Amino acid sequence: MIPPDVFRDQPVLTGARVRLVPLTVAVLEEYLAFLHEPEGRRLTGTHATFTRDQVVGYLDSRAEQVDRADWAALRISDGAFLGEAVVNDLDPENESASYRIALAGPSVFGQGFGTEVTRLVVDHVFAATGLHRLGLEVFAFNARARRVYEKCGFQVEGRLRDALLWDGERHDVLVMSVLRTDVVPGRG
Ligand SMILES: CC(C)(COP(=O)(O)OP(=O)(O)OC[C@H]1O[C@@H](n2cnc3c(N)ncnc32)[C@H](O)[C@@H]1OP(=O)(O)O)[C@@H](O)C(=O)NCCC(=O)NCCS
Repeated sequence: MIPPDVFRDQPVLTGARVRLVPLTVAVLEEYLAFLHEPEGRRLTGTHATFTRDQVVGYLDSRAEQVDRADWAALRISDGAFLGEAVVNDLDPENESASYRIALAGPSVFGQGFGTEVTRLVVDHVFAATGLHRLGLEVFAFNARARRVYEKCGFQVEGRLRDALLWDGERHDVLVMSVLRTDVVPGRG
C-alpha cells in the first residue's frame, strides 16, 4: 500500500534537453493550442472539445490533485512548451498507476523529446514512489508511441479489439505496462 497522496510533492524533473515542471495556468495559451492540434487529437483519440474557461479551471486545479502528477514538458534551450506527461489512475492498494504523454504537435514529434520525457517520469516513479506498476493504452496504429514506450521498458500485454471508433473506422488498442522489477537497460 502506498499513500493516496503520494504525488503531493511533485518535483521538477530535469533531463538533458527537457525540464518537467508541474502543469499550471502559466502555459494556458500553449495548452489551448495543444488541445486543438488535429494530429495530436487523432493519436490520442480525443473526441471532446473544451472551452477556455474549462481549460483554465483544469490547469488551476492540478496543484490540488495529490493522487496524480501532471507535468508540463519545457524545452530547456528556450523554455518552449513541448507537451504534457501525466501519471494518474492511482491504485494505492495495488501500487499501480497509469501513464500518458502527448507532445504539442508535429513540429516537435520525432526529435527524442517523448523518449526523454517518458524516461524521466518512469525513473522518477520507480525511484521516488512506492509504485510497482505503470500501465498505459496506445492505439495499435501509433507505432511511434509504441516504440517510445518499448524503449522505456513498457511491454505489450494485451489488445482491446476495436476499442477506438475514429472517423467511422474501428481500431485496436494495445495495453502496455512496465514494472519496477523489469530489467530495463539504462533505467536510472
Ligand atoms: C508519441 C510521442 C510522445 C513520441 O514522442 P517523440 O518525441 O515524437 O518520439 P521520439 O523522437 O522520442 O522517438 C520516436 C521513436 O519512434 C520511432 N518511430 C517513428 N515513427 C515510427 C513508425 N512509424 N514506426 C516505428 N517506429 C517509429 C523513431 O525512429 C524513434 O525510435 P528510435 O529512437 O529508436 O529511432 C509523440 O510523438 C506524441 O506526443 N505524439 C502525439 C500524441 C501521442 O501519440 N501520444 C501517445 C498516445 S498513447
